Formats: sequence, C-alpha cells, structure tokens
Amino acid sequence: MYDLESRTHAIVADLRSDTVTKPCDSMRAAMAAAEVGDDVYGEDPTVARLEALAAEMLGKEAAIFAPSGTQTNLLGVLSHCGRGEEALIGRRNHIFRYEGLGSAVLGGVAVAPLEQAANGAISRETIAAAVKPDDPHFPISRLLCLENSFYGRVQSLAEIDAAVTAARAAGLRAHLDGARFFNAATALGVEPAALAAPFDSISICLSKGLGAPVGSVLVGDRETIAKARRYRKMLGGGMRQVGVIAAAGLFALENLVERLEEDHARAKRIAQRLAAIEGLAVDLSAVETNMIFPQIADADCAPLRDYAAAQGVALSLHPGESRLVVHRDVDDAGEQAVVAAFEEFYATPNEEVRRD
Ligand SMILES: Cc1ncc(COP(=O)(O)O)c(C=O)c1O
Repeated sequence: MYDLESRTHAIVADLRSDTVTKPCDSMRAAMAAAEVGDDVYGEDPTVARLEALAAEMLGKEAAIFAPSGTQTNLLGVLSHCGRGEEALIGRRNHIFRYEGLGSAVLGGVAVAPLEQAANGAISRETIAAAVKPDDPHFPISRLLCLENSFYGRVQSLAEIDAAVTAARAAGLRAHLDGARFFNAATALGVEPAALAAPFDSISICLSKGLGAPVGSVLVGDRETIAKARRYRKMLGGGMRQVGVIAAAGLFALENLVERLEEDHARAKRIAQRLAAIEGLAVDLSAVETNMIFPQIADADCAPLRDYAAAQGVALSLHPGESRLVVHRDVDDAGEQAVVAAFEEFYATPNEEVRRD
C-alpha cells in the first residue's frame, strides 16, 4: 500500500477518530450553493436555518453555531456559571480533561471533578455529596455537566434523569456535552428531544460522526443562548459569511443522522472479529456506538500501529488508550482491511512483527 510517487501510505481506512471524515460531494455542493450574509449582524440565512433545525430537533427554543465543540461547551458553562461559581463535571469528561479548563482559566469558574461509572453516569449520591453548602468557604455550586455518548458508551434516560434530578434538587442547572449526541440517541433508540429534555443546554458536534468539516451547535432556552451569543463574540467565535460552513452542518442534520446506525453495526462487526483473535481482548458489551476499545498489550501498540499503517489502516493505539472509531468514511473495504491487519498481526510470530 506504499505509494512510491507520493512516498506515503495510501489510506484505506482511518479509524483514529470520527473527526477525520471528509465532506462528500453532496455536502460540498450544499456548501458551494449556500446563501450567506454577515452572521455577526444576524444576516446569514443558512446559519439561521441550521440553528433553527438544531433547536427543533432537540425540542429547545434556540441554538447558536460555533467553530468547535470546545467552544460550545465553554459557552454553555460560562452562560450558566459566573466567577466564583462551580461546575460539577465527571473526572473523565472531555470538558474536564481536554479543553484546557477554559471555564476556569477564562471565566473564573471553579470545577469539581466527580467519580463516574464506565458509561459516564454520575450517581445521585456523588452529586449530592459534591454540592457545596451555602458557606463563604466554598464556591457556589451552579452546574452539573454530563457527557453522552462517553467513550462510545451511553447513559440511559433513567441514569440521566437520576443525575439531573439530584442536581436540580440542589438548585443546579444541567449541561450536556453531546459531541456525539446523535450516536447516543441512536444507540438508545430514543428521540433526540427526549435525550435533550433534562438539560438546560446541549453541545452537539457536527464535525464528528455527522461528517461536517467544521462546527458545533449549542442548543438551549432563549435566555441561555442569548448569553452564549455574547460570550461567543468575546471569544472570537463570531463569524461572518459562515453559511458556507453551516451548510455542511445543515446537510449533516438533514441527511446523515439516520445512517449513524450503520457505523454502530460496523463497529460491532469489527469488534466481534477482533474478539475472536487469540491474544486480543475486546469487551463486546462496551461497544454501544461507533467506538471499540481493544485491550492491546503495551509492547504491541507501536508495532501493530506500524503494521496496520503499512496496510493503509490508520489506528490510534497507545499504551492503556487504544481505540478504533468507525465513521462514514469507513466502508466495507475499510472494514475488511482493519480486520485483516489485526488478524495478520496476531497470526504472525512475535519476532517478525513485534518488538519486545
Ligand atoms: C466528547 C467530546 N467533547 C468535546 C469535544 C471537542 O470538540 P472540538 O474538537 O470540536 O473542540 C470532543 C472532541 O473530540 C469530544 O470528543
């Protein structure tokens, strides 16, 4: 699979993340044809349509388009919490681990990391114990943040309801990092509005499994989204004729939500084939959406990554953190190539492909 001319490996399948999807021809056509205007003046009709559709799908009053999921999460937290107030967040949640703690750095918001289950659920006891008493020694607890889906796992409506009810009992608001919100709704077999209902704000990424090149949407009530609009401008996220990008997200919401099921089915098929390989463990019950987390020996990660790359399969394999992510650019040939790379690697005697 090594291309002599370009001196690169031709990629047959890239399962490092669902962020690697590229816009298809129809999406590009929608982008090229998008009607645009200055969105900071509120004059971009395509952005307006995207925001209206996102709000309608989630059963909320309003939405705001932003460049990234990191920004829509930040807009959510800043819109609910002021300086000296506190957000309770699962300790493995993206907002806590991978977003530079922007809410603390830029907003003076205190953050309390909470224990959570393997599917990201946070128990009502954990929430009740984390809420600070009304005492000047402490920040004022103001918000609970959940994430769904969470490392490919999903929290049920009952688990979410328990957590949000505990939060509300303590006077907190609730934000959902729904970077893969539609994967979660698909896996649970529930309407997006039902999954969104418990929350005051939901951040949805258009640039992951939905296949748009850029963009996220924060959805919520009118007042929260109006605040978010001020923060977006302050953060430099106000964009001008951005309908050309919003059109990709609009195309995704209109056409690509239903096909997420295909990614989930493909992930299950790949996981089953990998689980059958001697020397490789895969927890099939944890494959609920588009992600697979195989248990790969630390010493095998780099050699397996190199071996797969030579077959045109890009994988994110790191000691303790190996994951395969299925998305719309992984087709049947890609599926076969991934499985073949694993099967061949594990069938090859150690000394030929593996380092000690
Ligand atoms: C769960 C989760 N939340 C938020 C984000 C942030 O999205 P972005 O990369 O668009 O900032 C990501 C990105 O990978 C994510 O996986």
